[in-house]
Amino acid sequence: MSVVVLGVGGGIAAYKVCHVVRGLAEQGHEVHVVPTRAALEFVGRPTWEALSGHPVHTEVFDDVPSVEHVRLGERADLVLVAPATADLLARIAAGRGDDLLTTTILATTAPVVVAPAMHTAMWLNAATQDNVATLRRRGIVVKDPADGRLTGPDNGPGRLPEAAELVDLARTVLADPSCATAMASRDLAGRRLVVSAGGTREAIDPVRYLGNSSSGRMGLAIASQAADRGADVTLVAAHLEVPVPSGMRVVPVTSTEDLAAAMDAEAPTADAVVMAVAAADFAPEPAGTKIKKHEGTDAVGDTMSLPLTQTPDVLARICAHPVPGRVVVGFAAETAPDRAELLDLAVAKLSRKGCDLLVVNDVSAGKVFGRADTDVTLVRQQGPGRRVIGSKSQAATAILDEIHSLLAN
Ligand code: CTP
Repeated sequence: MSVVVLGVGGGIAAYKVCHVVRGLAEQGHEVHVVPTRAALEFVGRPTWEALSGHPVHTEVFDDVPSVEHVRLGERADLVLVAPATADLLARIAAGRGDDLLTTTILATTAPVVVAPAMHTAMWLNAATQDNVATLRRRGIVVKDPADGRLTGPDNGPGRLPEAAELVDLARTVLADPSCATAMASRDLAGRRLVVSAGGTREAIDPVRYLGNSSSGRMGLAIASQAADRGADVTLVAAHLEVPVPSGMRVVPVTSTEDLAAAMDAEAPTADAVVMAVAAADFAPEPAGTKIKKHEGTDAVGDTMSLPLTQTPDVLARICAHPVPGRVVVGFAAETAPDRAELLDLAVAKLSRKGCDLLVVNDVSAGKVFGRADTDVTLVRQQGPGRRVIGSKSQAATAILDEIHSLLAN
C-alpha cells in the first residue's frame, strides 16, 4: 500500500477527482486529499474526508502540532495534483508555499504528477506553457490535458482526462517511479509511434463475427504511456473492452483486412510500430444475409461448416518492407509447457517475422487476456530476454524503455 497525496486545484473538473480518490482507495492506497481554498468552492471538505477516510486541510496553520506541511510530503510515495489550474501551475513553478498543497510539493522527494485542466486559451497562453516547461525541466510529470468539450460551448485542449486514466497514471508511476523521469523529460518527443491494439472481428454474416478474447489493455497501456513520454501516437484500434485514453489519434479497424490497410498507410512513416493487436489468422467469406438455422426438431445435431481463409500476416508484411531506423515490435501469445520451450518459440517467431523486439506471454489456461497483471518476456534479435512480472503498465514501461534504447541505436 502506498501513500498518495492528492492535491486538488480550484477548477470545475474537481468533481471528477472524487472518482480518482475512490479509484486509488479501492486499490488499497492511503489517500490524503489536499485541496486549495478555491477547490473547496467546487467540492466541499466533507466529500473529500468521506471519500478518503482522512481529515482534510488546506492551510499550513490548520494542524500546527503535526507539522502537516512537511510531514505529508515526507510520507508521500506520490503527489498527484488534479486539476492543476493555471494559477496553481504558476505557484508551483515559482516555488511558492502559500498553502498546504504548495508547501507539500516543496517538501516532498516523491514523484509529482500534475494534470492541468483549464480553458484552451489559458492552457495555450505563453505564461502557462513556460510554467509547464519549467515543471518538466525539474522532473515533474505534467500530463497533457485531453482535447474535447470544455465547460462552456468551446472545444479544444484543456479537459481533465477521465478519472480512470489518472488512476492508471498514478498506478504506473507508483509501480516504477523511474518512468516519472522518462515522462517528465519527454524522452519520446519527436517520435511517431503507431500502436495497434484490441481484437479483430471477422464477419460471418451481417450480425455474427469470429472474435477473440483480447481486451486491448496491453496496447492501450503502451499507447498511453508513449503519449505521456511525449510521442506522437496513432492508435490503430480493433475491438477494445476499455476506453481509449486521451492524447492520441485513433484509426478504428474491424477485421484483419482493415488492419492490414490501416498499417499499410501508417507504418511507413512511423519511428516505431507496436503490433499488440490480436488479429485473426483465418476469416470466413461473409454471407450477405443472415444465416438461418435448419427448421424442425429433427434438425438438432445438424452440423454446418464455415470455410476459413488465411488472412495476411500484417506484422510480417510490415517487416518485409523495412524502413531505416524504424523499430518494429511484435507480440506472441503462446501456450508452452515450460519456460524454456516458451523462449524457443519466441526466438523462432522473432526471426520468422523479422521484427526487432518480440514480447512473448504465456496464455495457457487464459492466464493473461483481460487481466490487469501479466508475465512477459522481451526478446530482442541479440542479447538475453528480459522478463517482467507485474501490471500491464509495468510491462508497457519496459517495452517503451526497449523501444527508446533501440531508437537511440
Ligand atoms: N499478427 C499479424 N497479423 C496476423 C496475425 C498476427 O500482424 N494475421 C501479429 C500480432 O499482432 C502479433 C504477432 O503477429 O504481434 C504474433 O501473433 P501470433 O498470432 O502469436 O502469431 P502467428 O504468427 O499467428 O503464429 P501462431 O501460428 O503461433 O499463432
